[in-house]
Amino acid sequence: PARAVAAMADQDPKSLDELNAIIRKTEPLVPGATQAVLGEGPIGATLAFVGEQPGDQEDLQGHPFVGPAGQLLSRAMAEAGIDRGASYLTNAVKHFKFTLRGKRRIHEKPTAGEVSHYRWWLDRELDFVKPKLVVALGATAVLALAGKAIPITRSRGPYRFDRHDDRFQGFITVHPSYLLRLPDEAKEEAYAAFVGDLKRIATLGH
Ligand code: URA
Repeated sequence: PARAVAAMADQDPKSLDELNAIIRKTEPLVPGATQAVLGEGPIGATLAFVGEQPGDQEDLQGHPFVGPAGQLLSRAMAEAGIDRGASYLTNAVKHFKFTLRGKRRIHEKPTAGEVSHYRWWLDRELDFVKPKLVVALGATAVLALAGKAIPITRSRGPYRFDRHDDRFQGFITVHPSYLLRLPDEAKEEAYAAFVGDLKRIATLGH
């Protein structure tokens, strides 16, 4: 990994396309992923959303937030009046990591070391996209953007990421997959709170 980081720092992509070409041909830090899943959305998007890492469906289809969590995110964005197609969606880590359980590929959370390995890409990506507001979806995105672990429950809402303070406003909320894992009786309220966050995000983006 140390050599990979040095190699990354030597790269000097001049555009998001050049950066994505580098990401696409770089081997996953942990072997297994089908492909790198790149960020998607227009350059100059007002809002950027950062997730954790691609899931099973994202890995197979090659697009971010297309599996169950992504579909929940889409629904919540629509309810909050956010145009998903006008937003930039990406992940802290660009390759799916999993353990096999029978034939099922079970998502495995990236380590802090993996997050910092991929952080250079995320930073450069956001340099090119230049969003006004960046939303961290869950703890891994927070770790990537802040450069340190921050408890989400205490810091949920508008947040100043010191490393990026001159470049964009920040916002911390939960990851949509957290909502999927909640027991049924807690889901509705947590989902409503998530939509509430997205409505605030929409307002801050104006
Ligand atoms: N979860 C994420 O964090 N990102 C995706 O792209 C899909 C699920």
